[in-house]
Amino acid sequence: MKRYFIKSVILFFACVASGLDTQAQGINNLDLVIETKIDSLLSLMTLKEKVGQMTQYNGSFDVTGAPSDIDARTKLEKLKNGEVGSMLNVLTAKATREAQEVVMKNSRLKIPLIFGYDVIHGYKTMFPVPLGESASWDLEALELSATIAARETAAAGVHWTFAPMIDVSRDARWGRIMEGAGEDPYLNSVIGVARIKGFQGDNLTDDYTIAACAKHFAGYGYAEAGRDYNTVNVGESELQNSILLPFKAASEAGVATFMNSFNEIDGIPATASVHLQRDILKGDWDYKGFMVSDWGSIAELIPHGFAEDKMQAGKLAVVAGSDMDMEGRVYEVALEQLVSENEIKEELLNDAVRRILRVKYALGLFDDPYKYSDEKREREVLLAPEHLEAARDIARKSIVLLKNEQTILPISKNIKSIAVIGPLADDKDSPLGNWRAQAIKNSAVSVLEGIKNTVSADTQINYAKGASLGIGERSFLMPLKINETDTSGFADAVAAAEKSEVVVLVLGEDAFQSGEGRSQTDIKLKGVQQELLDAVVAVNKNIVLVLMNGRPLDLSRPSEQVPALLETWFLGSEAGNAIADVLFGDYNPSGKLPVSFPRNVGQEPLYYNQKNTGRPSSNMVTYSGYQDESRDALYPFGFGLSYTNFSCGDPEVSDAKFSGEGSIAVSVVLKNTGKVTGKETAQLYIRDLVASRTRPVKELRDFKQIELAPGESSKVTFTINSKTLEFFTSNAKWEAEPGEFEIMIGSNSVDLKTVKITYE
Ligand code: BGC
Repeated sequence: MKRYFIKSVILFFACVASGLDTQAQGINNLDLVIETKIDSLLSLMTLKEKVGQMTQYNGSFDVTGAPSDIDARTKLEKLKNGEVGSMLNVLTAKATREAQEVVMKNSRLKIPLIFGYDVIHGYKTMFPVPLGESASWDLEALELSATIAARETAAAGVHWTFAPMIDVSRDARWGRIMEGAGEDPYLNSVIGVARIKGFQGDNLTDDYTIAACAKHFAGYGYAEAGRDYNTVNVGESELQNSILLPFKAASEAGVATFMNSFNEIDGIPATASVHLQRDILKGDWDYKGFMVSDWGSIAELIPHGFAEDKMQAGKLAVVAGSDMDMEGRVYEVALEQLVSENEIKEELLNDAVRRILRVKYALGLFDDPYKYSDEKREREVLLAPEHLEAARDIARKSIVLLKNEQTILPISKNIKSIAVIGPLADDKDSPLGNWRAQAIKNSAVSVLEGIKNTVSADTQINYAKGASLGIGERSFLMPLKINETDTSGFADAVAAAEKSEVVVLVLGEDAFQSGEGRSQTDIKLKGVQQELLDAVVAVNKNIVLVLMNGRPLDLSRPSEQVPALLETWFLGSEAGNAIADVLFGDYNPSGKLPVSFPRNVGQEPLYYNQKNTGRPSSNMVTYSGYQDESRDALYPFGFGLSYTNFSCGDPEVSDAKFSGEGSIAVSVVLKNTGKVTGKETAQLYIRDLVASRTRPVKELRDFKQIELAPGESSKVTFTINSKTLEFFTSNAKWEAEPGEFEIMIGSNSVDLKTVKITYE
């Protein structure tokens, strides 16, 4: 520890002395000392070594013993020759040290490897899946969860996470909707930045911080029909204002790396898009970190029908600004030849390598390539009790109360009898979610366990599984089988419900129903779950339906059948305890939906921030709607109830007009009109009434959380300035256009109070 302290002090004085900033403000803040070192290192590198830095291999080989197959042997040789710059999926302090040693002991220039891994919602201690965690709208908690994930990841020898995913996602059919912050560009921006800050901390050279990666650049969340990897067609306005907004924020926050995406946009695969990577990211935004491809996405330019072979794919990708090839095996075969045949300039490689080395220097890997590979620290840090405590806290903050008729919730801890039913009720695995990094199988606290931990000793708990959901092998890559037929457990479930005062019914999705490649055309409760609900409701109507899922579900039927609905996503290691905290009133639910829940799948993609269209309404059929369903959500974006009630006064403005770089204040008075303390999220939306490019009917632009005791009221004030009103205009600039705006404030995207202002 002491050694690192001394190193930081020296670094601090070196920076002060040279008048330079540290990496504190991110990768875009160039450190001239480092830049000079990169120059001299680059001047020593052969072409092969440069290509090596741009090559990332998967770590599925045994570097500790004799390699078991020819491919592994080749990998090992390449590492020794400095032909690999990065590896993914090499884990643990021991394994990363061993792999690093191969490079440091054998390669000519001894450029340390950077190890990357998908730490999406925790490394060993699991936090809620990102969509769930985003429902907390609690930026401090979100940052803390990333800080802890970074601590554990760094302690396991890994330098870099492929997170956060900040793809604006508006289609519940898309399985990866669980990995981001939902449908809103602004929410994705602020949550993305909180996560980046959490991973990267103030200084990447710290022992417990890791490099983050803004992914997937860009448009991946807009896959047509919610089918993973599918085509995306958007124009420049939607691209800039919705898809790119969170990425711009991530770049400004100094995220160390970006990852490009599998999809094409308007006929150009993102991996080969000069417009996205060179013009916008590295041009307009002047981004200085590096771009890693997605897994094999450079090689996929061939099946896309965009490149005829690896040579052309490599050329297109490197010209477009893809700096590192993740497992595509393209750069290693194409780049040297392309340079020597004058097909591309070596300067392109120099630029890519410079960016990669910049991140390695920023992480302090040149000072100590093994600084993360400390087995003692690894033992101390993973699953530390304070990590689990924090996981429980953010988990309960992520729960959204969707319905609570007859105030069935919270349940008394002294209730005489309670039935706990459902395929997910005692599931200790699904709460870990997909993209679960190194979570231990079946290690989550189940709902049943959480309830047992909470109720009084006299409470009779009647548990019955009722039916299975996911059956057979459950894994990241293989399709999941759903139980469609076996209802043999229904009789026990009905019996348990019959003899209990209240039923906690836990339904939803298996963890492996959402995630990569898990697109669905039907988002109702799968398998025999609806039938189980019907059977239970027939004998006991006092049902609290606890939902676990990674995507919005079609809840139209269940929501009519039960008096209480609790959305709990996949909450991670402490799921059951966090759910029990809410069920029994130890925590008053405060979560708000980061994504709209539809009335049926035919409404998808469904999002609150739609355009008005030329025909917003009519009493005839000639308007933009459906004849068999409303166009509104069943549960809208921003929605979430509490065990108390809040009232929101009319918005008051400090001035009805402002101009230029001025600002005005808009305030509302929030009051807790109920009987218990609770937390409300005041949400501010804007509407630009007439603009050079049509604007959505509502756009979230700010929010504030406030806790109020019963009867207490408080004024919540927002500042509106040109930044609040700006968008990517027809001038191809981010600017606020003069004119009238509606400012709307309320507790969700529907229940809003409006005031008009003018920007001059
Ligand atoms: C995913 C990325 C992920 C990468 C590495 C890809 O299939 O799209 O999000 O970071 O694999 O595991």
